[in-house]
Amino acid sequence: MKLLATVAATGIALASAAPTLELLTSRQVGPVGDNGRPTNYTVYSFDQLIDHFPNSSRYEPHTNATFSQKYVFDNTYYKPGGPIFLYIGGETSLESRYSNLQTGIIQILMNATNGLGIILENRYYGQSYPYNTSTTEELRFLTTEQTIADNAYFAQHVKLEGVSDAANLTATQRPWILYGGSLAGAQTAFSLVDYEGLLWGGIASSAPVHVVHAYPEWYLPIQKFGPSDCTTRINNIIDKMDSLVKQNNTEAIQQLKDIFGLGTLSDIRDFAMTIAFPLGGPMNYPTYTWQELNWYPAYDHRDFFEFCNNVTDQNPPENISAVDTMLANYTNGQAWTGLGGYADYVKNVVVPMCPSEDLIDTTKCFSTQNQTFYEETTNSVARSYLYTTCTEQGAYQAAPYDENTPSLLSRVVQVDYTQQWCTWAFGDAVPPNGPNLTWYEQYGSFNISAPRLAFIDGAQDVWNELCYHGSNATAAHNNLRYGENQLLITGAGHHWDSNGILNISAEPDFIRAAHEWEIRRVNSWLQEWDESHDSTKLKDEL
Ligand SMILES: *[C@@H]1O[C@H](CO)[C@@H](O)[C@H](O)[C@H]1NC(C)=O
Ligand SMILES: *[C@@H]1O[C@H](CO)[C@@H](O)[C@H](O)[C@H]1NC(C)=O
Ligand SMILES: *[C@@H]1O[C@H](CO)[C@@H](O)[C@H](O)[C@H]1NC(C)=O
Ligand SMILES: *[C@@H]1O[C@H](CO)[C@@H](O)[C@H](O)[C@H]1NC(C)=O
Ligand SMILES: *[C@@H]1O[C@H](CO)[C@@H](O)[C@H](O)[C@H]1NC(C)=O
Ligand SMILES: *[C@@H]1O[C@H](CO)[C@@H](O)[C@H](O)[C@H]1NC(C)=O
Ligand SMILES: *[C@@H]1O[C@H](CO)[C@@H](O)[C@H](O)[C@H]1NC(C)=O
Ligand SMILES: *[C@@H]1O[C@H](CO)[C@@H](O)[C@H](O)[C@H]1NC(C)=O
Ligand SMILES: *[C@@H]1O[C@H](CO)[C@@H](O)[C@H](O)[C@H]1NC(C)=O
Ligand SMILES: *[C@@H]1O[C@H](CO)[C@@H](O)[C@H](O)[C@H]1NC(C)=O
Ligand SMILES: *[C@@H]1O[C@H](CO)[C@@H](O)[C@H](O)[C@H]1NC(C)=O
Ligand SMILES: *[C@@H]1O[C@H](CO)[C@@H](O)[C@H](O)[C@H]1NC(C)=O
Repeated sequence: MKLLATVAATGIALASAAPTLELLTSRQVGPVGDNGRPTNYTVYSFDQLIDHFPNSSRYEPHTNATFSQKYVFDNTYYKPGGPIFLYIGGETSLESRYSNLQTGIIQILMNATNGLGIILENRYYGQSYPYNTSTTEELRFLTTEQTIADNAYFAQHVKLEGVSDAANLTATQRPWILYGGSLAGAQTAFSLVDYEGLLWGGIASSAPVHVVHAYPEWYLPIQKFGPSDCTTRINNIIDKMDSLVKQNNTEAIQQLKDIFGLGTLSDIRDFAMTIAFPLGGPMNYPTYTWQELNWYPAYDHRDFFEFCNNVTDQNPPENISAVDTMLANYTNGQAWTGLGGYADYVKNVVVPMCPSEDLIDTTKCFSTQNQTFYEETTNSVARSYLYTTCTEQGAYQAAPYDENTPSLLSRVVQVDYTQQWCTWAFGDAVPPNGPNLTWYEQYGSFNISAPRLAFIDGAQDVWNELCYHGSNATAAHNNLRYGENQLLITGAGHHWDSNGILNISAEPDFIRAAHEWEIRRVNSWLQEWDESHDSTKLKDEL
């Protein structure tokens, strides 16, 4: 969920090299890099139904039209009879998922099983929009049940061009195994629940299977595992800021905004969001955060730690350390320790993203207070994702409600801030007080289960409290989950198992163990398939 790293392009820069001719002719996947893996894929179109539920009043007026849903596939490891891995695209473009086939989890599973990997782009993302614009009328088919019905319909009907046994690859002729990370992980799990008997197995990684309106727990892993001098300093600065807000000390608040170089940003919540960008959210952020940390250096973005190093600098220049006491007169003489380093970072890294000071208080930069902006119906990732947030998913990043819980985000940011965007963007097409959470919760929430459905999560993931291993899910069980089809990776972030480096044995221990566990899960499911589909063998056993 950029839910959702709004900015994280975790694509891997593959060195381009002369294609290996042998692979090209025998495998037909296009150019190959010097690591032996494809550098690009041919994009195919599938005629997908816009409306899978002609009898449901939810989608009136109905349509029989189809749209062109994009997909790519990789048969570099495929041997006829092998399983089909369907990587669920989620809230981003097809291309930004290629690394999963090239070097990531699908490569790992294909290599282990002679399987074939497919990425299916999510409806209303990338090049898979059913309509040319995104009015609320046109967005009405962007729902979880329609999206997972796409997966099922695709698995039943796709014909993979140039693959030798293309006619015999559909579910249920072959075992189809889904994989998704984040929102796509939840869709993977929900697909397995609704289409049991059609789809054979699935791995849901960092999947928010449970949803809430307000999600202050987003900041919990940062609070728990971030450098404590950094988080404590920010907590104290936020407490002081919030006390000024409570006192309506407009003069002091103006000084605080000026210190961050954001003096012209009028809405206090926009200011709170902007200075929280190095930490993340709500919904959007332009720089890399905790969520974009990664176990492999080449995929990692350690901006969060550089930010913290500024906040905790023990030898800052005089002009920076002086800032810490600038507002002390408003807080009983207490210094705002770390404010100088915090503000300096924001001034150097965040504020310059705005092309001109005149634009700071507009939606071109850091303001969100602009109904016209949200009313624009141009197709975009942001609009599609906001629609899903407002109608079904919720999980608005917000500060804790109470004053006694330390917060990294000013308490001026509550659910009404995000809800305003929903109402501006979609009017009365969305519920005025937040989404109807039943659309998600109906699949089982923390009790979700289906045959051969596995859950893998990261203990330090900002979304983990909504996932299978969230602490509310396990509170009644000594904080433990049991069973072979679940794994919580210690020290890991948001679907870290998606990434691979073409050498499992060189991975850090717990990532390696996770990948080995995923291979064993899939192998055991394939064994079950063989046992239940091989009539000779069944007879032998009898
Ligand atoms: C990748 O392939 C697509 C067609 O499937 C093509 O449009 C695109 O230009 C290619 N990209 C690169 C970088 O070669
Ligand atoms: C819709 O209802 C009709 C009439 O009851 C039924 O024949 C049809 O199978 C239903 N279609 C779906 C997709 O459920
Ligand atoms: C879709 O096609 C079915 C079968 O031809 C027809 O009964 C139905 O009225 C059509 N629906 C729409 C919205 O055109
Ligand atoms: C979308 O735009 C294309 C190109 O302008 C046009 O051919 C097509 O009919 C439009 N589709 C819809 C559903 O309006
Ligand atoms: C598909 O499977 C059937 C048996 O299930 C077989 O007769 C047929 O030859 C297969 N087709 C291809 C293209 O492999
Ligand atoms: C806060 O102070 C400003 C001016 O100092 C005033 O206009 C405004 O009404 C005050 N707001 C509240 C909620 O008291
Ligand atoms: C502050 O952040 C900048 C930008 O990321 C970084 O280059 C610098 O090293 C950091 N300063 C300290 C004192 O760590
Ligand atoms: C704080 O208040 C004292 C006494 O009124 C004054 O001398 C000092 O200049 C003030 N400091 C700042 C930073 O405003
Ligand atoms: C509001 O949004 C509209 C449409 O994007 C844009 O043209 C306008 O400049 C924005 N105004 C402000 C103050 O952000
Ligand atoms: C929420 O959605 C469920 C179906 O998922 C429906 O039964 C229920 O009536 C809805 N609740 C509200 C308040 O609309
Ligand atoms: C966890 O449970 C507490 C107590 O019921 C509740 O306040 C909180 O919102 C829950 N968090 C999540 C993410 O469900
Ligand atoms: C593929 O799997 C084999 C074991 O089956 C392993 O030895 C090899 O390292 C794997 N290669 C890659 C590139 O994943």
